[in-house]
Amino acid sequence: RVKILREVAALRQTVANWRAAGESIALTPTMGALHKGHVSLVALARKRASRVVMSIFVNPTQFAPNEDFGAYPRTFGADVAMFAAAGGDVVFAPDVAEMYGAGFSTLLNVAGPAAAGLEDQFRPTHFAGVATVVTKLVNQCRPDIAIFGEKDYQQLKVIERVARDLDLGAEIIGAPTIREADGLALSSRNVYLSPEERKAAPALHAALQRCAAGIRGGGAIDVALAQARASVEAAGFIIDYIEARDAETLAPLAAPIGAPVRLLAAARLGKTRLIDNIGV
Ligand code: PAJ
Repeated sequence: RVKILREVAALRQTVANWRAAGESIALTPTMGALHKGHVSLVALARKRASRVVMSIFVNPTQFAPNEDFGAYPRTFGADVAMFAAAGGDVVFAPDVAEMYGAGFSTLLNVAGPAAAGLEDQFRPTHFAGVATVVTKLVNQCRPDIAIFGEKDYQQLKVIERVARDLDLGAEIIGAPTIREADGLALSSRNVYLSPEERKAAPALHAALQRCAAGIRGGGAIDVALAQARASVEAAGFIIDYIEARDAETLAPLAAPIGAPVRLLAAARLGKTRLIDNIGV
């Protein structure tokens, strides 16, 4: 039976009891509106630890005032059922006051190549909010491991950086992106797409795949990226960015290319902003 906890003190007590019994603990932070991508994180967590905690918290500090905090899908009952079916143990679902009490004044400032450019150019306050809430969640739960999807690749790299820099004491584990049959990466925001937009949406992943194949085949990166941008625009997207970066550090590529490359994209279909990325 899944236990639902709303308070940090209750989470700490539950985890302390598990620890005393010699168990290992995995944390999977989410904002709810669960889909098969989130469930895959729970499945991986179950393989790597004896207890699985999922946090469900739509984190206000990572949304800019013009973004979809209010409209973000909230499906708590269905989320708990999915988490239970996946074999999880505890849902930690604090309210905003529990996470950000009166007088809250601390936000992490994440610098360096992992946080520079890409999402940060379009959502300049986003990673401060993500880094702050993830640091809080890891401090509250003190898991052995914390699992994040490669779907949000820059987020994963930022969190790896924060965990190292601030000695969070949990191993950060990345999990592969789960996709629809047509290649569209699963996302809680896909529900915003109209039927027409949903048909056009897989073009983003298809363009990244062709781009990666072109680069692997020895093609020039700039040419492959230009082709990807053109085909994504032709599918009706407005592009925020489609870029190639060092897969490990997310630094811009320096010639000659030695290290593995990651292609990262964000583009808007109507009012919906989609992000995706793949390895080359
Ligand atoms: P959310 O968007 O709910 O995503 C929770 C976790 O699920 C993230 O690690 C994300 O990368 C992963 N995920 C989302 N879609 C996925 C997919 N198609 N395949 C695999 N994993 C996927 O990311 C956040 O919430 C928040 O920023 C959070 C880290 C919880 C901090 O508030």
